[in-house]
Formats: sequence, structure tokens, C-alpha cells
Amino acid sequence: MSLVDSAHGTHDDLHTLVEGFFRSTFSTDNPLITEAIKRMLAAGGKRLRPRVTLLATDACGGDPVEQLHLAAYMELIHVATLIHDDVVDHALTRRGVNATAVDYGNRVSVLAGDYLFAWIFKNVTVHYPHPVPNILSATLADICDGEVLQLRALGDLDLPFEAYVEIARKKTGSLFAASAECGAIMGGGAPVEIAALHDFGESFGIAFQMRDDMLDVIADERSLGKPAGNDLAERKMTIPLISALAAGGGAFRALVRRFYDQGAPDAIPAIIDGIEREGGLAATRTQIARFVERAKDALEPIGPCSAKKGLAKLADALLAY
Ligand code: IPE
Ligand code: IPE
Ligand code: MG
Ligand code: MG
Repeated sequence: MSLVDSAHGTHDDLHTLVEGFFRSTFSTDNPLITEAIKRMLAAGGKRLRPRVTLLATDACGGDPVEQLHLAAYMELIHVATLIHDDVVDHALTRRGVNATAVDYGNRVSVLAGDYLFAWIFKNVTVHYPHPVPNILSATLADICDGEVLQLRALGDLDLPFEAYVEIARKKTGSLFAASAECGAIMGGGAPVEIAALHDFGESFGIAFQMRDDMLDVIADERSLGKPAGNDLAERKMTIPLISALAAGGGAFRALVRRFYDQGAPDAIPAIIDGIEREGGLAATRTQIARFVERAKDALEPIGPCSAKKGLAKLADALLAY
């Protein structure tokens, strides 16, 4: 079962309502920015963050119908980060269509992402109690911090595994953690449940980023809806590469060194072969499984319910590629 399939469940009607919000209610005062954002929303996406928010509310005994806007804001934060991320990563496609920067240029993309962040916070600070706005602000800081740490690690063949995990935790784990935690808070969860859902989201997000890094190596642009092999082209240090380098092979290291120092895009297929040969993909699968287990273990304080099962199923779906 794919991640998208398993994301659908008893909450399908709720997600139709979230989509309705994007289609009909969502609008900003700036028509060009609204158009760019709606275009990205209409192109698709797995909608995992709003799903996690609504499941977390439900798992704490709250009514997810009351948290549809909160769930939508989580997706919008994600969309703003994607608009910026594609500028930073020089990526030309997203969700199977042109990246925002291709159609609107880098300048509008940077401003549209900033505008969307501000628009979200304008609404969240009015409608949600402490500590929700605080959690979301801290998450945005984490995402930027993670992205900058990643930029500083470009081409660093000796980047320790722990440093990679910290980058994944900040750039991706943090928003999943916030999506779950804010859903739990608004669902009236007890402190131990709120903490459990935060921890679930964080480990889920780390496993999710590891899987995304693996797909960049093994999948194609058609299935991803975004460029494949882009991480290598950008000289990023992702988990399949870090694991393959750690496995030894001096010749493989020299190949990667040459490519990262001097370029030569035709070396990419040989590096991908090397990642596989040196066990980089197998090691990545092991780490994904480890963080999936950690995510499910975090749910222990949550009483048995279908939402808890839904979250565990979402985590298990990260094991399928
Ligand atoms: C992509 O996220 C960015 C990462 C954190 C790896 P998704 O894979 O959730 O992207 P969409 O929302 O489905 O397009
Ligand atoms: C996503 O990392 C980080 C964000 C917080 C947006 P990636 O750069 O791997 O995401 P994709 O592969 O472009 O979706
Ligand atoms: Mg990217
Ligand atoms: Mg990626």
C-alpha cells in the first residue's frame, strides 16, 4: 500500500472539507500571490501534515471537524516552505507542474512564500491560544535553521550521521511534530498525550525525510512530480550517500569527491550505482525502519482508538517504496 493510499481512511470526508477551504475560502489581498499558491495547491500533494493534525486531534478525543482550518494552515506552511525550497534547490518541477519560480520567477517566489507565512501567522495569532502560535514560530525557525545547516554541509563527505539526523529533524521533523502537537492541544489532549504526539510527529518526519532522500536516488521525475537525482546535483549530503561513504570503499569516495569538487553531471549514474553497491540503500531502509518504530512507540500513552491506528498506519506506509 502506498503512502498516499494509506493516508486515506475514515477521515476522507474531513479532507474533502480541507480541500474545499483551499478551493473556495482561501484567498489573500494579493491576487498574484493567491494565484501562485492556489496553483500549487491544485497541483496535488499528499496532504500529510493536515492529516496528521486531524488524526492527532481525534486521538486526543477532540472533534477534528473543529480543526479543519488549523489543518489547512499546516499545509499552507508546508506550501510556503516548498516555494522557497525550490528556489534554494534550483528545482524546476514540483507536484508534477512547473515550480513556482519557473512560472513566476525567483523574486515573486521569495515574496509569495514570505507573504504566505505572514498571512498564516496573522490568522493563527488571532484564532488560536497559546502555545499554538509559539510552536509554529519555533517550527519556522527550525526549518530555516535546518536548511542553512544543510547548505553549510554541502559537499562535506565527512558529515556525521548524527548531524544529518539533526538537519532532517529541523527541516522536516519539526513541522510534522508541530502538526501533531497543535492538533493534540486543540483536541484537548492531556500533557502526556500532547508530548507523545509531538514525539510521534518528529520521528515520523525524520523517517519521511530519509525516505524522500532515498526516492531522490531510486525513483524518477514522473513518479515524484519533482526532479530526481537533484540532491546529488546540488551536492547535498543525504542518508543514502552518507551511509555508502561510511561503508568504506576508497574508490567510491574518490568518485564522489571528484564529482562534488569538479562537477561532471555524467558521473551521477556511476554514483547512484555506487550508493547501491556500497549498501547505502539498505542502510537507509534500516534507519527508516528504526525511526518508524520510534514514532509508533511514541504513541504508547495514547489510548486505543482508530485515530491512533491511523497514525501507526501512516508511519508503516513509510516502509513501502
Ligand atoms: C516534500 O514533502 C518536502 C519534504 C519534506 C521532503 P511532501 O513529500 O510531503 O510533498 P507533497 O506535499 O506531497 O508535495
Ligand atoms: C525539504 O527537503 C525541506 C523542506 C523543509 C521544504 P527537500 O529539498 O529534500 O524536499 P524536496 O525533495 O525538494 O521535496
Ligand atoms: Mg528540495
Ligand atoms: Mg528531497
